[in-house]
Amino acid sequence: MATTRPFAHKVVYQVYPKSFADSNGDGVGDLRGIINHVDHIASLGVDAVWMNPIYPSPGKDNGYDVADYTAIDPAMGTMADFEELVAALKAHNIDVMLDMVFNHCSDQHEWFRRALAGEAKYQDYFIIRDKDDITSWESKFGGPAWSPFGDTGRYYLHLFDPSQPDLNWRNPAVRQECANIVNFWRSKGVAGFRFDVINLIGKDEVLRDAPEGVDERDMYTDGEIVHDYLRELAARSFGRDDNHLTVGEMSHTSIAHCLAYTGAERGELDMTFSFYHLKADYVDDMKWTDGSFQPGKLIHILHAWNEGLSAGDGWPAWFLNNHDQPRALSRFGDPENYPFESASMLGALVVLNRGTPYVYMGEEIGMTNPDYAGVADLVDVESHNAYRILLSQGLDEDTVWRIVKAKSRDNSRSPMQWDDSEFAGFSTHYPWLLPTNQDSINVQAARALQERLAREGVRGQDEVGSPREVLGFYRALVDIRHREEVFAHGDYVAHQPDSDSVYAFIRQHRGTRMLVACNLTAEGQSLRLPEGFVGARVFLTNGAAHPAAGLVRLDPYQVIVYRAVDGLRG
Ligand code: GLC
Repeated sequence: MATTRPFAHKVVYQVYPKSFADSNGDGVGDLRGIINHVDHIASLGVDAVWMNPIYPSPGKDNGYDVADYTAIDPAMGTMADFEELVAALKAHNIDVMLDMVFNHCSDQHEWFRRALAGEAKYQDYFIIRDKDDITSWESKFGGPAWSPFGDTGRYYLHLFDPSQPDLNWRNPAVRQECANIVNFWRSKGVAGFRFDVINLIGKDEVLRDAPEGVDERDMYTDGEIVHDYLRELAARSFGRDDNHLTVGEMSHTSIAHCLAYTGAERGELDMTFSFYHLKADYVDDMKWTDGSFQPGKLIHILHAWNEGLSAGDGWPAWFLNNHDQPRALSRFGDPENYPFESASMLGALVVLNRGTPYVYMGEEIGMTNPDYAGVADLVDVESHNAYRILLSQGLDEDTVWRIVKAKSRDNSRSPMQWDDSEFAGFSTHYPWLLPTNQDSINVQAARALQERLAREGVRGQDEVGSPREVLGFYRALVDIRHREEVFAHGDYVAHQPDSDSVYAFIRQHRGTRMLVACNLTAEGQSLRLPEGFVGARVFLTNGAAHPAAGLVRLDPYQVIVYRAVDGLRG
């Protein structure tokens, strides 16, 4: 029996605070900037806002190197600003979700500084080993995962940058500290949490190199004990509250583990992010490669995960964009020739899917990768490391830049484009990252188009009367998610799962069945309708309302949703 999740209708909007809006003219986004744009967020109809880290941090990894978990970075504002933001969003019924970075902290955190100064209590907060006991693991940002621990002759583990020492979750004091941090923010009115790379906290007591043929990441990912830690954390904090959202970021995970993390009776998390679907433009599953998008790969992974999680009653979080990914529209769509079609189709793919949809700032106006001129334009630590490593592997500079430009995390971190001015209405000051195409893509222009089409009465010939511009289409998707129970609670059935071009799935709930078909290519495609859908009504589309004959035509990047006439008996 499928569990009815009370939050299943909700849509989350992700704000990258450093890049959303700068209220004090220092070129960096801040909390007051978000307060100033609450109207935009509210106009989308979303239920919660997840903000990336806003805590004091040396900023080696843009805030994911936390120096103090219970304070606000002065560059972001004050605790009073934060409280005002929570209240301003709450006035629109929007909850705040914060990012909890618990696999590691900053080397500037008091815990690490006291550990380095020789305090045994704090040394046990970290994973410190003699030279003979360290592994040959590579850090996720490139280079060795162990660095010398001061001048002690010992080494500490950092699965990310050397400035991000891993925390020792085997130490009960660390686990209690993390629960206290969660409760601190709950007391500030925070109603949800995103746990950063949380499936890396269950490391073994004795760390080992991977045996021949085993992926090194398996040696520290999804260790069984992580489930105990999450249950303990939940029991000590959010687990007593039905009215909150929790999502775990799961790196290199499995369907079986995600069923365990999100099983309704297990008391761990509400949902999980996984990333395999975003490897559809990787070569051999490697990010820093020159691959092209293979729609079939995306389609097959989405089906496998959705069928697996639906059948096992687990719950995924779905997204195509976030602060670590290049813009989906540039990767999987065609912003040159089909900006509206591909942006709206990708939006429908996420928002109408089974699981909780996450929309990343700027996605709702069809933002694309900026046109950075060279590596000097980039700030991201991972991108700079990758650039160096690729060059050292003997690739020529043009190739290296082509790869880094396409894959850099700074593609999604460029400022939110509010208008077409020099700094895109983000700031009055030269910003920390530059916007490049605000002339054509910005909120003001999106609103103007919306108003013009509404005045002219331009709407789709479907049940929803779908808007013919990206911003309005996203708003319609969020409304549908709220209104039509089938999209919140329905099961997921793959349709034509072997297709390499059309991603199609059926959502079904009580008497209602909907077929969602997304053409992921710039060519026309055809789709055979499943049983019960011939003669169905067009519920939603971003193009022509093709009648539901046996074989349906899909135009380039078209999404079409049919509502079955027969319903589902039983
Ligand atoms: C997650 C974050 C990413 C960060 C990393 C280390 O993957 O999303 O931005 O660099 O964890 O904290």
